[in-house]
Amino acid sequence: MRGPLSLLLLLALVAVAAVGAFGVPWLGHDGPTMRDAQAVVHRVREDAPQLFMGPEELASAQGFGLEAHTVRTEDGYLLTLHRLAPPATAPAGDEGDRGEPVLLVHGIFCASDLWLLTPRHHALAFLLADKGYDVWLANLRGNPYSRRHESLSTQDLAFWNFSWHEMGVYDLPACMDLILKATRRERLFYVGHSMGNTAYYAMAAARPDVGARVRLHVGLAPAVFMAHIPNQVARVAARSGDRIVRALESSHAPELLPASAARTALLFLSCQPHASRALCRRTFEMTYGPAHPAFNESLIPFYAAHVLQSSSARTPGHFAQLVLSGRFRQWDEGSAEGNQRRYGRPEPPDYDLGLVSAPSAIFYSDDDLAVSPTDVEHLMSLQKNVVYQLKVPDRPYNHMDFLWTPSAVQTLYDPIFKLLAQF
Ligand SMILES: *[C@@H]1O[C@H](CO)[C@@H](O)[C@H](O)[C@H]1NC(C)=O
Ligand SMILES: *[C@@H]1O[C@H](CO)[C@@H](O)[C@H](O)[C@H]1NC(C)=O
Repeated sequence: MRGPLSLLLLLALVAVAAVGAFGVPWLGHDGPTMRDAQAVVHRVREDAPQLFMGPEELASAQGFGLEAHTVRTEDGYLLTLHRLAPPATAPAGDEGDRGEPVLLVHGIFCASDLWLLTPRHHALAFLLADKGYDVWLANLRGNPYSRRHESLSTQDLAFWNFSWHEMGVYDLPACMDLILKATRRERLFYVGHSMGNTAYYAMAAARPDVGARVRLHVGLAPAVFMAHIPNQVARVAARSGDRIVRALESSHAPELLPASAARTALLFLSCQPHASRALCRRTFEMTYGPAHPAFNESLIPFYAAHVLQSSSARTPGHFAQLVLSGRFRQWDEGSAEGNQRRYGRPEPPDYDLGLVSAPSAIFYSDDDLAVSPTDVEHLMSLQKNVVYQLKVPDRPYNHMDFLWTPSAVQTLYDPIFKLLAQF
C-alpha cells in the first residue's frame, strides 16, 4: 500500500534534501520557519512554479477552464467537485448538451489535479473532454480541496474520523447526485484509479441503489483485496497500522501530509541531478513499481508534489487492515466489543460484491507494487458483471503508469473510449 510506505520514504528523502539545503536536518509544516527555509521555498517557487499549481492552473495550462461545484454530503462534509470546461463554452445556460458525464475519482493522498498533470494529448481527462464527454473530477474528503464541514473544523478529531468507506458511502453518492441533477441524466460513467475503486466498491455494495446509476465502471489498478500486496515495506508497515492510527489520533494528529510548501520545495531539491536523483527514482520505484521506459524521471518532483496530499490516518489504516485480514470489509474497531458496539457483531461486515450491479472494465498490471494481479483476479471472480479485463501487456508498468506514461493512450485509453461508446 502506498500510504505508510510513501510516508517513510518521503521522510528519508526530505531528510536528505534538508541536509543538502541547510546543512542540518530540518522538517516542518509551513508556519514560523527559518528565514533560510523561506528563501529556499521562494526560489523553488520561481524555478518550478508547476509544482505549486492547483487544478485550475493545470487545466488552464492545457487550454481548459475548470468549474468548481460544492457538494454537501449526508454527514455534513463540503466537497469541491471540479468540472472541465473548454474555454469557449459558456459556463451557464443549457447544461443538458455537454455530452455524457464521466466522473473521475483519484486515489489515496491525491486530488482532482491527479488527472491534469500530463499534456492534453495524453491525459485521460483532457482526451475525454476533447471527445465531447462532460468530465467531472471528484475531491474526496480530507484532500486539500475538500476540507470543509458544516459543523466541524479540521482541528477537530471527529473531522478525520473517516476512511475510504465514508468516501464511498457518502462522498460518491453526493457527487453523483449533483452531476446527474446538473446534467439531467439517469446514469454516468465512472473511472477510478487505485483507491478511487476501493471507494467505488464500498459505495456499490453498501448503496446498490446508487451503484445502479453507473453505466460502466472503469477500474484502473483497483485496490480492493490487498492480501497479496507486493510492496514489502507496506506489508511490514501494515502490521503496525492500527497502532499508528491510534497513536496519531491520541496525540491529536489524525491528518497525514498536511499541505507544506517546504516539503514540496525539498522534494524538488532532492530530485535535482546534482542532489540525489538516483535515490529519488529509487524511492519512486520502490513505492509504485518499476517505471515504463517512456516515463520521464525529471518529472518525479512535479508528480510527487501532487500525490502527497492530505488525508486521514484511517485512510491508509483501513488498507492496512485489508492487508492483514485478506478480506474486503468495513473498518475494524480492533476489538470484539468495539465491533459489537458499531456493527452489532464481533467482526466488521464484509462488503457484499454480489450487490455490485454495474458492469466493470478492469485494468491491472504485473509490475504494480501497490496492487497485485492475484488480488485483482480474486475481485473479478466475485463480481458478476466484469465485461472487460486487461492485464497490461506493455511492461514494465507501475501503479502510476496508468496515468503518466504516454503509451497509456494506446494501451488503456483507446480501449476505454471503445467501451464507453458501447455502454
Ligand atoms: C467514528 O465514527 C463512527 C461512526 O461513523 C463511530 O461509531 C465511532 O465511534 C467514531 N470514532 C471516533 C473515535 O470518533
Ligand atoms: C522530461 O521533462 C522535462 C521537464 O518537463 C523536459 O524538459 C524534458 O524535455 C522531458 N524529456 C522528455 C524526453 O520528454
